Amino acid sequence: MKNFIITGTSRGLGKALVKTLIDKNHRVFCISRKKDPELMDLAKNNSGNLEFFELDLGDSKKIRGLMEEIFQRIDLKTAEGIYLVNNAGVLAPVKRLEDCEDQEILTNLQVNLAAPLILTSAFINGTIDFKGDKKVINISSGAGRKPHYGWSNYCAAKAGVNLFTRSVGLEQEKSAYPVKILSLAPAIMDTKMQEEIRSSNKKDFQELEKFKNYKKEGKLLSSEVVAEKVKDLLLSGNFEQGELLDVRELL
Ligand SMILES: NC(=O)c1ccc[n+]([C@@H]2O[C@H](COP(=O)([O-])OP(=O)(O)OC[C@H]3O[C@@H](n4cnc5c(N)ncnc54)[C@H](OP(=O)(O)O)[C@@H]3O)[C@@H](O)[C@H]2O)c1
Repeated sequence: MKNFIITGTSRGLGKALVKTLIDKNHRVFCISRKKDPELMDLAKNNSGNLEFFELDLGDSKKIRGLMEEIFQRIDLKTAEGIYLVNNAGVLAPVKRLEDCEDQEILTNLQVNLAAPLILTSAFINGTIDFKGDKKVINISSGAGRKPHYGWSNYCAAKAGVNLFTRSVGLEQEKSAYPVKILSLAPAIMDTKMQEEIRSSNKKDFQELEKFKNYKKEGKLLSSEVVAEKVKDLLLSGNFEQGELLDVRELL
């Protein structure tokens, strides 16, 4: 059995990825604030093994306990592979940094950066003696490499995701049974996050017209296309340890 732990599975890329992973030989652990009845029905009708864990990833202190609960359900002796995809993400707050409230800043960093760090730490510990296939894919963003007016929190968090991926890659090279780790920028996908970007205020987000045009000109990727690439990367391991990759390099 291959075991997949995926965050942010209620919509967008996370939900599309879970759909591609439903299979009688896979066990999928979904972490989201709410259960998704469509995914649960899909799993039921296709002999899939799917479990939902409801957690707000802004609640950093509860993450490690949840991972312990998930690892209690995974039989390391018979597991063929164990995989983590840190996909959940939030864009807000979209405004100049001096206009952000402290709580908005903290929530952004907790969901986008602290949660993937804690989940990855718990994943490495939980699989330390596991000799089989184990991988972590962090869903980053082009915004982790390039600044955007109004996105200081999101850019900082995604840059952090890129650099922690590279650092953990170096650490894992020294491990007896290394976890392979990748940071993947999923380009621009037609999801609720893009709707949120297009509903930003011009004053707060100066690239508003550009992003509205991406949609008008059909330049957004579907989350299904990106999900297939994430699945391929998880199963093939066709990437360097600690690599930063953009999904467009694979299309
Ligand atoms: N869409 C793009 O163009 C784009 C571009 C670059 C990078 N990305 C990245 O790709 C990933 C997926 O984005 P998407 O476009 O699919 O976004 P989305 O449609 O907005 O979905 C985001 C997912 O994250 C979950 N999430 C948000 N806050 C959470 C919290 N506090 N606790 C638990 N889950 C939470 C959401 O679940 P609930 O809100 O239901 O809990 C939802 O399932 C994100 O990391 C995003 O930064 C997206």
